[in-house]
Amino acid sequence: MNASENTNRKVPRHVAIIMDGNGRWAQARGLDRSEGHVEGVNTVRRITEAASEAGVDFLTLYAFSTENWNRPKEEVDALMHLIGIAIERETPDLIKNNVRLTMIGDVERMPIEALERLRGCIAKTSHCTGLNLNLALSYSARWEIADAARRIAIDAAAGKIDPSVVDEATVEKYLSTSSIPDPDLLIRTGGDMRVSNFLLWQIAYAELYMTPVFWPDFTKADFMEALTQFGNRERRFGLTGEQVRGS
Ligand code: FPP
Repeated sequence: MNASENTNRKVPRHVAIIMDGNGRWAQARGLDRSEGHVEGVNTVRRITEAASEAGVDFLTLYAFSTENWNRPKEEVDALMHLIGIAIERETPDLIKNNVRLTMIGDVERMPIEALERLRGCIAKTSHCTGLNLNLALSYSARWEIADAARRIAIDAAAGKIDPSVVDEATVEKYLSTSSIPDPDLLIRTGGDMRVSNFLLWQIAYAELYMTPVFWPDFTKADFMEALTQFGNRERRFGLTGEQVRGS
């Protein structure tokens, strides 16, 4: 779905978050970086609740990037284990809170134990109609766009689509986010001012909110502050202010 379907809603329909700063949070306390990820899971729970309470429909969290595979093996293994365990442990609460889990990314690269736990949670929450918690795992936007291009080419070669009519709507249909609206708000914690290969197609018109707060320290109040700032912005989608305000 594209930006033209968005309006100047006060509460963003879709919030995407780059959860950064776990490692630095831990190192500042003399702890192993993995301790930061453990604490980061508590923030995931807190912010999922906050998003639900605020009336957000979609929350996409950047939990593991394609580039993260290049981190030290011990950290990758610990993170994969943590994600699987946390998802299994949280499943009853997700169901209770009517939260549906989905995931995007090159997930076949993940260890089977973590993948099975994630798939179990996705199946058990598939009937939930509240917040859609969407985890980006083994994800990068360039991977996603190249994957879409490859599948469009395959379908064109098979005669299923006419190459001369491939347009933005076609590309969107082949993205992993084809069934959900584009993010209205992109939050990045941890102080860096970049988008790190996250949802590059989909954030074309997203409002950006960067905060120095490390992810483990990010509170419900911090999340609500991001939503408040979002509500005060005028989104123009390339139009003039007068057009948007209808005057
Ligand atoms: C970035 O911090 C964070 C990650 C690479 C992993 C985030 C994952 C979690 C919080 C666990 C998610 C779990 C579930 C169940 C969704 P960093 O390590 O890059 O921090 P740094 O920039 O301070 O080094």
